[in-house]
Amino acid sequence: MEGCGRIEHLGDGVSGLRIGETVAYCLSRGSYAEYAVVPAWKLVPVPDGTAPAIATALMLQGSTAHYLTHSAFPLKRGDTCLIHAGAGGVGQLLIQLAKRAGATVITTVGSADKAQIARDRGADHVILYRDVDFGDEVRRLTDGRGVDVAYDSVGRDTLPRSLRALRRRGVCISFGASSGQPDPVSVLDLAEAGSVFLTRPHLADYMTTTDEIRARAADLFGAHREGALHVAIDRTFPLAQAAAAHTIIEGRATRARAQS
Ligand SMILES: NC(=O)c1ccc[n+]([C@@H]2O[C@H](COP(=O)([O-])OP(=O)(O)OC[C@H]3O[C@@H](n4cnc5c(N)ncnc54)[C@H](OP(=O)(O)O)[C@@H]3O)[C@@H](O)[C@H]2O)c1
Repeated sequence: MEGCGRIEHLGDGVSGLRIGETVAYCLSRGSYAEYAVVPAWKLVPVPDGTAPAIATALMLQGSTAHYLTHSAFPLKRGDTCLIHAGAGGVGQLLIQLAKRAGATVITTVGSADKAQIARDRGADHVILYRDVDFGDEVRRLTDGRGVDVAYDSVGRDTLPRSLRALRRRGVCISFGASSGQPDPVSVLDLAEAGSVFLTRPHLADYMTTTDEIRARAADLFGAHREGALHVAIDRTFPLAQAAAAHTIIEGRATRARAQS
């Protein structure tokens, strides 16, 4: 659903873009191909010096981290957030944007080497959630209070405990299901967790106009250019080996090997 390339052809009536220009996009299916047909309003010109792979990662994973921290729950100085899978693609960007906003970051990861990645991105506290109960750890780290917001991309394995890790009237954002779709949540569970809020957003609802898409991209591309946002590209594969890339993702084996 995301990609970057040079414009080969423009549809009738398209203005503000030119043939040969390098553009990036997300939320348009059909990117596993040499050519993609993308609605013009979704295209973002890529600044000189930003590599295609970085631009592509920033369009989808970056925009996701951006709307979560700026729009779905705008973080501010003094907030404490819980970010699951902090060494994942979105997770690493979430940690960095949360730290930029002045928040304290508690993150979970599946292994010790991933813990180091999350620390390198700026996480204040890292929990190995396959070894310890992250709900108990969050309570301990927050002196029993709980976090202001939980960003939960893991789903089935974590969502009930993410709700319980919130402070009274805190917010849980369930935005992914890496471990499978979570079981349905009863509305009474929200009351009993401390009158908390639960939302399940789609990126598309936070990327509704060209202006909104380009504002997020400008902030992300700018932060990357200034060295304030690291984008990790683990490995690259030729299109013919796309299935191998999916096997690695499904096996939780992606890592931040190369830094840009
Ligand atoms: N709603 C939205 O707007 C939106 C937008 C973009 C992405 N997403 C979703 O956000 C999630 C994260 O995306 P991403 O690009 O950051 O993915 P990613 O780089 O592949 O990271 C996913 C991480 O989830 C963790 N995980 C936990 N249980 C897992 C399991 N059973 N199988 C595989 N991984 C598991 C792994 O970290 P550990 O080993 O450390 O646990 C893994 O590194 C995905 O579910 C994606 O669909 C949602």
